[in-house]
Amino acid sequence: MNVQIVVLTGAGISAESGVPTFRGPDGLWEGHHLEDVATPEAFAADRLLVQRFYDARRATLARVGPNAAHRALAELEQVLGDDLLLITQNIDDLHEQGGSQRVHHMHGELRAAWCRACDQRFGWSGALADEPPCPGCGVRALRPDVVWFGEMPYGMDEIHQALFDCDLFVSIGTSGVVYPAAGFVDYAAAGGADTLELNLERAANSDFRLSRQGPATELVPAWVAEVTARLGSVG
Ligand code: OAD
Repeated sequence: MNVQIVVLTGAGISAESGVPTFRGPDGLWEGHHLEDVATPEAFAADRLLVQRFYDARRATLARVGPNAAHRALAELEQVLGDDLLLITQNIDDLHEQGGSQRVHHMHGELRAAWCRACDQRFGWSGALADEPPCPGCGVRALRPDVVWFGEMPYGMDEIHQALFDCDLFVSIGTSGVVYPAAGFVDYAAAGGADTLELNLERAANSDFRLSRQGPATELVPAWVAEVTARLGSVG
């Protein structure tokens, strides 16, 4: 049986690894409003503040590790191969640390830098606030390779095609308030896919046919076990 599954993850899948979500009780990130650190306008107005903010977040990646939900999705990739598209809104690398090899980071990656002078991208683990020269062109014009509000997420054509073609769309640990990701459920349903959400609470875009509430480290391994058992029994 050939089942094509698209999985979308958000901050909730990394919460139990110790990475804070965006919309916690006070809606702030380390005392910053999102708009003050996650927009091109913020970067133009106060580059150092934005670079320091992302440098601090990049540094925390060294102290966190994947959890059972990340690892379960890596196991699913082993079973489904190209029939799984894993899209994440997260800029952490916990899916990769958990063993996933093909992760589509639609909002970019903390561990990457983008040179605004030569348009090249580089893996990056250090700081950017001290304005290091671009390894490609030498100009001091690197920014975090993350998608800010007002910018276009990566790979939208490929994502829309996969959503339209898939049999099942699963959304994990995302509040469903940030578009275009919040609209993926409607896109998938329009293409005839079944839709499932696995989240601590019902998301804002609760147009899913099936919804399960609970922590990702419990819900995701249980769901992956169901899928792999079903695939195994059909052979
Ligand atoms: P949010 O912080 O908006 O939402 C996190 C969701 O995860 C909420 O619905 C929580 O209920 C749920 N959650 C929390 N802990 C969980 C757990 N242990 N298990 C399962 N679910 C849990 O984060 P996102 O939806 O990822 O964009 O935010 C979407 C985008 O908004 C981000 O990619 C970022 C942000 O602004 C950009 O920076 C462009």
